[in-house]
Order: sequence, then structure tokens, then C-alpha cells
Amino acid sequence: MLKVKNLHAQIEDGTEILKGVDLEIKPGEIHAIMGPNGSGKSTLSAVVAGKEDYEVTEGEIEFYGEDLLDMEAYERAQKGIFLSFQYPVEIPGVSVTNFIRNAINEGRKSRGEDEMKGAEMLKKVRENADKLNIRKEFLNRSLNEGFSGGEKKRNEIFQMLMLNPKLAILDETDSGLDIDALRIVADGVNEFKRDDNAVLVITHYQRLLEYIVPDYVHVLYDGKIIKSGGKELALELEERGYDWVIEEAAGV
Ligand SMILES: Nc1ncnc2c1ncn2[C@@H]1O[C@H](COP(=O)(O)OP(=O)(O)O)[C@@H](O)[C@H]1O
Ligand SMILES: [Mg+2]
Repeated sequence: MLKVKNLHAQIEDGTEILKGVDLEIKPGEIHAIMGPNGSGKSTLSAVVAGKEDYEVTEGEIEFYGEDLLDMEAYERAQKGIFLSFQYPVEIPGVSVTNFIRNAINEGRKSRGEDEMKGAEMLKKVRENADKLNIRKEFLNRSLNEGFSGGEKKRNEIFQMLMLNPKLAILDETDSGLDIDALRIVADGVNEFKRDDNAVLVITHYQRLLEYIVPDYVHVLYDGKIIKSGGKELALELEERGYDWVIEEAAGV
């Protein structure tokens, strides 16, 4: 579904952050991208999702055969790309439920479909809230206002289940991921996962991958994927760190 080819991207001042990334994700797969801080992991997810802070200078991104680089971020979301937010914004006065209702209906409108019927929306909200042990009071709270780390995660994963994207990209910072938050993310992903969708988990730590078992693990370093392997690569990285991969890639 996703084909990233020789992707180069830079920030405003001309500094190149992504220096030739190749990545292919097929339906049914879970991929993990790992790598030291500052490697370009968040940049890669932002460029795939279409954030405007970056300029793509070379390469391609295709999603189901369509050129993503021609599309705005919201169009990519409508095509089925979901990116979790590392730093979710607070929206006072807009509840968790209202926010997601609008997002779903905006997507439907863009595809020329009718708004989702109230009863159907309610059913989906209940189903997904149940799956994540979300209580009714939580659904009525203002989006992200005063949310704890765990609540933010829960809301994010709730949004993912409600929006039901083709490709979910979860950019997990190391900070704020306590064991409860890890479980929420992992349970959500395992609930979400089907043969016709895919997940890209970005993480600094191997711990999350004890709960979400990836089919492929990639190491991103200095804007490039320098090693790919199966789930055992994550364990090896946990044991041995990143230096040996970096040295191997440099031919030391
Ligand atoms: N919008 C930006 N403005 C300035 N520097 C940025 C921006 N985005 C990323 N960078 C820089 O690019 C490098 C990679 O960042 P990032 O993609 O966040 O890495 P990671 O997620 O792997 O920790 C870092 O040196 C970071 O400071
Ligand atoms: Mg990051």
C-alpha cells in the first residue's frame, strides 16, 4: 500500500533530514522503525502524513499507486493515512466524541457520502470505547484538556479505531509511555490490525514491541534506513544498542 522510494526531505533552512529512505509496507503488515534520537523518525512520519514543515527534494511516496506528494495532509488522511500526535493539542469546548464525529463526517463529505447516522455513530463510539475501557464521562470531556499521559494515549487510539485508517502511523516518544500507556497502545493496535490494513510503529525503545509484534523492524539513522530485519532485530537492539548497526552500515 505504501511505497517510499529514495525519499529526501529538508527543513526550511536547507538542512537535509531524510537522506534517501526506502520503505515498502503491504496490507496486513506491522512495521517498526527504531533508531537513536534525532535520526529522522518523526520527520519521516510527518513527511508521509504531509506536514508542511518539510520540503521533499527527491524521491517518491505512493499510496495504493497514487502519488501522495501531490496531496495535502487532509487529503492523505481522507485516503486512509492516520498519524498519531506526539503532542496532542487541547481543544476546550470540543468533546472527545464531537471531535471524532466531525473528523469522520468531514472524511465522508469529501468522498461525496452522507454524514454517518447518529445511531450508527453512537454504536461505533460505544463499541470502540468498550474495547479501550473508556468511560462515558471521558467521551464528554474537552479534547486533551487536562488529560493525563495515559488518557491522551487512550484518546489517540480511540481516534484510530473510530477513523479506521488503512495505514496507522504511531509515533511513540519514549517520554510519557508508562506501562499502562504501552498496554493501551498495544491493545488498540492488536484490536485494529486486520489483513487489509497496516501499522507503522515508530519507537525509540524495544519495550513496546514486546506487546506489538512487528513483522519487520527497520533502523533509521542519520536520515536513512541502515538495517532491516524481523522482530528479532528489535531484541538484538535492546541487548546490544545501536552502535554495532551504525558501524556495520559504515563498513567499520
Ligand atoms: N521542523 C524542524 N525544524 C528544525 N529542525 C528539525 C525539524 N524537524 C526535525 N528537525 C531536526 O531533524 C533531526 C531529526 O529529528 P526527528 O525526525 O524528530 O528525529 P527522531 O524522531 O528520530 O528523534 C533532528 O536533528 C531535529 O532537530
Ligand atoms: Mg521523534
